[in-house]
Amino acid sequence: MSQSILFLQSLLSLLLLLLCTNYAFCEPLVNFQVAQPPPFILDTESLQCTIPIIQRTFGSSIGDPEIVRYIPPTGCSTPNVWGGVTLNLTVKSSGTQLPRFAFFTFQNVEIWRSSTLIPNESGDDGIVWTYVKDVTRFIPLFSKPGTFILQLDNVVETGLDGEFAVTLEATIFSGSSRFPPAQRADLIIPLTTLANNTGDEASVPSGFSVEVTLPQNAVTAFAELQASANSRDMFWYSDIPNQFLSHFAPGTVGEGPFREVRVLVDGQVAGVAFPYPFVTAGGTAPPGWRPIAPYGALDMPTYHLDLTPFIPILVNGQPHSITLDVASTEPDHQINQNWFLSGLLQVNLDSSTLPTTGNITLYQADDYATSIASESSGDNSGINVIVNASRSIRIEAEIIAGSGEKTKVVFTQNLEYGSVQKYLQNEPPAFPQQVFQIASGETLSTHNDETALQDTFTYPFLIGYATPEGTDVIWAQMDHAYDRVLLPAPFIMGTTIIEHQAASGTEASTGYTFGTNGTSSNTFSYTDTEGNTYTRKVNASNNVITFDNQGGTLVPTAPT
Ligand SMILES: *[C@@H]1O[C@H](CO)[C@@H](O)[C@H](O)[C@H]1NC(C)=O
Ligand SMILES: *[C@@H]1O[C@H](CO)[C@@H](O)[C@H](O)[C@H]1NC(C)=O
Ligand SMILES: *[C@@H]1O[C@H](CO)[C@@H](O)[C@H](O)[C@H]1NC(C)=O
Ligand SMILES: *[C@@H]1O[C@H](CO)[C@@H](O)[C@H](O)[C@H]1NC(C)=O
Ligand SMILES: *[C@@H]1O[C@H](CO)[C@@H](O)[C@H](O)[C@H]1NC(C)=O
Ligand SMILES: *[C@@H]1O[C@H](CO)[C@@H](O)[C@H](O)[C@H]1NC(C)=O
Ligand SMILES: *[C@@H]1O[C@H](CO)[C@@H](O)[C@H](O)[C@H]1NC(C)=O
Repeated sequence: MSQSILFLQSLLSLLLLLLCTNYAFCEPLVNFQVAQPPPFILDTESLQCTIPIIQRTFGSSIGDPEIVRYIPPTGCSTPNVWGGVTLNLTVKSSGTQLPRFAFFTFQNVEIWRSSTLIPNESGDDGIVWTYVKDVTRFIPLFSKPGTFILQLDNVVETGLDGEFAVTLEATIFSGSSRFPPAQRADLIIPLTTLANNTGDEASVPSGFSVEVTLPQNAVTAFAELQASANSRDMFWYSDIPNQFLSHFAPGTVGEGPFREVRVLVDGQVAGVAFPYPFVTAGGTAPPGWRPIAPYGALDMPTYHLDLTPFIPILVNGQPHSITLDVASTEPDHQINQNWFLSGLLQVNLDSSTLPTTGNITLYQADDYATSIASESSGDNSGINVIVNASRSIRIEAEIIAGSGEKTKVVFTQNLEYGSVQKYLQNEPPAFPQQVFQIASGETLSTHNDETALQDTFTYPFLIGYATPEGTDVIWAQMDHAYDRVLLPAPFIMGTTIIEHQAASGTEASTGYTFGTNGTSSNTFSYTDTEGNTYTRKVNASNNVITFDNQGGTLVPTAPT
């Protein structure tokens, strides 16, 4: 390239930079995920202390997480009266890039799993998003100094130049009459790799186990799990049962479309989760995810179980093995590489230091879900693949605290799963015409007949593909919902979320260029046990918001 062209080029970029920093038309496109604002938006009385946690631009960052020391702020009341804590994540990106996972690990506990959105490949203006997450249930961690790690493995190479400029702040709400000291566990135990130099998520298969030793006066233990599919299992919902693979093109991914995340205590199933089929902003129909991210992309749903029935086993002062894995309905229960898993235990102790005793009085849990898979002929002599699975677990225990208090614990799970995949014979090999799955069910735990944990959920999920007449583009349509009652879940406000998102867009143009031809429609409603409400209906078409209506007590007031 000649000197003068190079000179002209740098002049031009300087000019653009000047224009972009000074004029509104270079504002980045604001992306977001539909979600309720944390109720602290209503806290006008508390002293609020905002402290910076992380400021870092993630370029090539594989094996190079951001590791910082956290010190609780002084001058914001003492941690034992804090009303809550929120994390504010703001990310800017421009250029071309794929979505990446972001694992937030604090004191070896994964407290938040997010993913990045896709920047605007053609403009210098890029995109920006902010997500404010309620992390009040982790106050026991925020109360003391510790290590905070953000693992965001980004790849910068030819054709992929997008970096992620991350700002993360924590806000502590000092407590007020409206927001009194938050309920909290005595102890949070990580079910992670415990690594100090990277995020602490485990990659399976095969399973992952960690040894934990509980204090002998522990009386309750609630588990929370993170689980997301990656790599060859990323599109697990469209995998084919191995027994039918011979009817599909070579290379078609097997192990079937069902996954369950299991938790085992000393090798015994303690509970399972039928995971929400999360997609990233680069998943099916990428242009449909701008500027409205797939539900869950910025704040992945977690799964709650009550491990209290295992307290009689866990409190003997010895280490016990807790295993996390993901199983399919194949005869050998194998899955493809890989899933990222982690978990934590919120543990409460008795007022007495005497050891807790008790017994598991009833144990009904199969090792794996029961399932049935079948094939039928579909339209145009295509194939339909149908897989159904179900789970029924009941574990009862009697727990006797050192102080003498007796608790009868009954933990049950009744979960259902169904999947129908439709393949047309005249489609490209192994390319589905439609994938539908629905997981639903209820997890319920009672302590002396009072609800300690309830999780009632329905996750319908549909992807359809079509090539409009006279075109050669693949048009993808996704329609999914997240309907969940999570009540009263200790240390977490009881919430009811009814969310529905339909998005469509071209499946892929060339390389990593996704274009702008997409639509999105969202309806969201939130209520909680504190009486807070929030609703939002928002539509977008070709990058532009076409309708936006918010209602309820948690609507942010516009800055004046
Ligand atoms: C979150 O951080 C961004 C960037 O620092 C800021 O603009 C925004 O006001 C913050 N939001 C809240 C709720 O703190
Ligand atoms: C991480 O650090 C803690 C505290 O220093 C230590 O107990 C633990 O063994 C370390 N983890 C690993 C995997 O080295
Ligand atoms: C637990 O069961 C064993 C026998 O299985 C019995 O000896 C013991 O008394 C029981 N403990 C409690 C606290 O019920
Ligand atoms: C299997 O699941 C599909 C999809 O939910 C459903 O239509 C079908 O009725 C189920 N079949 C059985 C036998 O439960
Ligand atoms: C990138 O941003 C420009 C300017 O806002 C817009 O015209 C273009 O459609 C965007 N492209 C993509 C792929 O979002
Ligand atoms: C977007 O896709 C639709 C459906 O294929 C097509 O009718 C429309 O012309 C496309 N618009 C643009 C701007 O490409
Ligand atoms: C949002 O989009 C959906 C799907 O296209 C449509 O049915 C609905 O009427 C739209 N809502 C508004 C308020 O425009």
